Amino acid sequence: MKKRILTGDRTTGKLHLGHYVGSLSQRVALQDEYETFILLADVQALTTHFDNPELINSSILDVAMDNLSVGLDPEKSILIQQSAISSIAELTVFYSMIATVNHLLINPTIKSEARNYGITEEGTESGFDFSKLTYGFLGYPVSQTADITFCNADLVPVGEDQVPHIEYTRKLVRKFNEMYGTNITIPTYKLSPVSRLAGLDGNSKMGKSLGNAIYLSEDADSVNKKVMNALTDTARTSVKIPGNPDVCMAFKYHQIFNKDEVDNVDNMCRNAAIGCVACKRNLAAAINGFLDPIREKRAYYENNIQKVKDIIHFGTDKANEIGNKNLAEIKEKMHVLV
Ligand code: TRP
Repeated sequence: MKKRILTGDRTTGKLHLGHYVGSLSQRVALQDEYETFILLADVQALTTHFDNPELINSSILDVAMDNLSVGLDPEKSILIQQSAISSIAELTVFYSMIATVNHLLINPTIKSEARNYGITEEGTESGFDFSKLTYGFLGYPVSQTADITFCNADLVPVGEDQVPHIEYTRKLVRKFNEMYGTNITIPTYKLSPVSRLAGLDGNSKMGKSLGNAIYLSEDADSVNKKVMNALTDTARTSVKIPGNPDVCMAFKYHQIFNKDEVDNVDNMCRNAAIGCVACKRNLAAAINGFLDPIREKRAYYENNIQKVKDIIHFGTDKANEIGNKNLAEIKEKMHVLV
């Protein structure tokens, strides 16, 4: 029997190249070897976007189409709407009884995300502003533990930022199994070869909230503009001065999206044989070449939205069946069934 993958995305907007590099590419590559479950994490989206349910709702379809258009095959992988899986909600409650607040407060990903959303406060012992930190946000690694374990997933392909969550999941599930004698699978994670994509602006990460994202559904003109703004070697003030690709963000992207020409680009830059504008134009062409087949697939799904909904409904029904069965076993072990 094939081992099972579960991974997913918050439905807070369209996915970008950072998601592709950090996670989507890996799930597409693994879907033949593993039974693959992709979670459209709309409940987790609420932890930070509770005031924007319309965005979350439209993003469910967007994120589904992003996954399908990069090559996730609905014949092999299923798409699941998180809020429709009752076993995830129930498991979250059970896990929350043994999840300590202290353990959540020291999670580095929670802290850095809290910073992005203005929920931190300098000078306090915890580093958080407790009047803004919600119970749901602080506890989302608990519900993510339920996401991963409702179906006893073996493997979670993720980007680097998610590693603290998976390590947390492993600890929490171990504790739960020991306490109740359950046999919930302790998952492992797998990082992509490039687990974090830096922003073209020099930020250590590409992110929607950082304003430096190139979306998988973005049109060519807009990609061209964004690439033209990339941070290059600041010491190279003239085309005649040799450049240093090691400090150039455009070069980092050449390494990922223009592999065939990367040695040539490196050479030309160091020898002042190409200027930054021409070099960025080449990069934009490479990124657009990479995105073209993705755009084409997406256009198909956008014209067949009912198909996308059917795929989600099919996957969600299957996940509920599996989750309900597992939850019944867990409840029996916990003696909460009468
Ligand atoms: N937290 C993940 C992110 O922000 C999304 C997610 C939700 C997830 N549930 C998951 C990832 C379960 C892996 C497994 O990208």
